[in-house]
Amino acid sequence: MPSRQFSFSRRTLLAGSAATLFARPSVSWGQPPTVDKQADSSDMVPDIARGNQAAVATVHPLATEAAIGTLRDGGNAADAAVAAALMLAVVDGYNSGLGGGCFILARSADAAVSAIDGREMAPAASTAKMFFRDGKPDPQLSKTGSLASGVPGAVAAYYQLSQRLGTGRWADAVARAARAASDGFGISPAMAARLAGVTEDLQRFEAAGKIFLREDGSPLQAGEHLVQTDLARTLWEMREGPESFYHGRFAELTDRWMSRHGGLITKEDFKRYHTVDREPIQSAFREHTVLGFPPPSSGGIHVAQILAMLERFDLSALADENPANFHHVVGEAMRRAFADRAEWLGDPRFAKVPRGLIDEDYLRRRGESIELGATSPSIKAGMPPGADSHWFGKGTTRSESRHTTHISAVDRAGNWIAITSTVNTTMGSKVVIPETGVVMNNEMDDFAIAPGVPNAFGLVGREANAPGPGKRPLSSMSPTIVLRDEEPVLTCGAAGGPRIISAVAQIVLRVIGLKEGVGQAMVAPRIHHQWRPDRLYVERRLPEQIVQQLEDYGHTIEQISAIATAQAITREPGGPFAAVAEPRISGSAAAI
Ligand code: DON
Repeated sequence: MPSRQFSFSRRTLLAGSAATLFARPSVSWGQPPTVDKQADSSDMVPDIARGNQAAVATVHPLATEAAIGTLRDGGNAADAAVAAALMLAVVDGYNSGLGGGCFILARSADAAVSAIDGREMAPAASTAKMFFRDGKPDPQLSKTGSLASGVPGAVAAYYQLSQRLGTGRWADAVARAARAASDGFGISPAMAARLAGVTEDLQRFEAAGKIFLREDGSPLQAGEHLVQTDLARTLWEMREGPESFYHGRFAELTDRWMSRHGGLITKEDFKRYHTVDREPIQSAFREHTVLGFPPPSSGGIHVAQILAMLERFDLSALADENPANFHHVVGEAMRRAFADRAEWLGDPRFAKVPRGLIDEDYLRRRGESIELGATSPSIKAGMPPGADSHWFGKGTTRSESRHTTHISAVDRAGNWIAITSTVNTTMGSKVVIPETGVVMNNEMDDFAIAPGVPNAFGLVGREANAPGPGKRPLSSMSPTIVLRDEEPVLTCGAAGGPRIISAVAQIVLRVIGLKEGVGQAMVAPRIHHQWRPDRLYVERRLPEQIVQQLEDYGHTIEQISAIATAQAITREPGGPFAAVAEPRISGSAAAI
């Protein structure tokens, strides 16, 4: 692909030679979000990277550079996305990495859509009560330590994307990441703050402490150089493919560590791990087709639900004339969607997730109960139609093949790639498998460890999302691609637990429903409602007068710094790509 022009967004250029100082964290629940000052500022400015050939947006300049370098070497958007994902495993490993899982939504140049499920699988020895002690659920067990991890799926999914849509550059992507691991990079203030937040837990796990803490047990500080020799080795071993990870040294070492530390994951679990090709969620919004990720993500279903419940409102008029009511109706739609989530959603191989959840009539009826200027007193899960039709219930899976980040990458040939990848909360389970440098996820906490017991994100669920052997925990990750007349015009996705769904819905609402430019849509103050707790979260930048009005409508308001960390790329027909990385944390977008 010829690269005439290379336009990094302004902030990335500023990062420039000191790029290694600029790790961009995502915002994680339950701890102070590490965000730029501008997250609270009323005049947040988006950086938009424009180019005709290709565009990329990630949370970290080194990942964006890896992607752009791949494109300049002749790779396509799939190669670029894989290069960015593997680089993030090195420079942003507290959010995503080899020990985590991901969902990939990809639209290829020949217009085929793939939804590659690389979500973690619970080990075969899992049980519904595995997090109970003395008859009571112990929420710490699903968050930290040996029981907290599912079998990682990210490596298998990245490889599958590379094989399916890429141009044979897997080994290059692995090599770039491995070199970054062995050469090292400077710890950013943001990364240092995240390490400081989890120091005590890291001290419990020797291999994690050796990498991320100093000898006296204090966390590495901003500006210190982080070399990850073991991770480099694990990466080099993967240059031919994921064999070593699932069938070789990594699986063996994990099996050994788990058996000595009360964990359940065995090398047989690694052998059984497989990605799943899923049928994407497809819904209509204002003459556009919205493609989302199906269960075990709840993202695609609930983004579709929120948009459909809002179809009947004149959103542009509301946003112009009565912005409080605009935010109010969006929040009320979220409330209803998350009530359905808690009731119905889970791994579709085990739980009957009704297809009727995205039925147009069902959502129209559910949206009709949204009133302007007043909250509905109480919301319950709905009863979607078609009790016999389930979302990929057992036997209907199309084909089985063998703290979070979102990557957007697109190219002129028509490849549009959306990857959301995660180890769950900061540093996942805090376990690093010795001699591998791999941070293990704590995705088991995305199960409902007991009915009604909230997880790290305050989410509750029921039997549909109980832990069980081979099950994939329910997720909110929402890689999204929007088409108009079969052509992609927008892709976005985010980190931030359940706030992902809200952020993605609001970006689509603004770009498609309000016809805002992608920059404007990305800086607009966000809100979030997840049904339980019954509370409307609003960003502090939302003007006080609007907040007051929302309270008058009946909302219990909680003001917070930043809601989610999103990346988005748009393209007007025949025009250039416009890529925007999250302005709340100064992510990194680039285009050529
Ligand atoms: O899959 C999910 O919904 C969560 N494990 C995502 C976690 C997340 O976004 C944390 N980042 N801030």
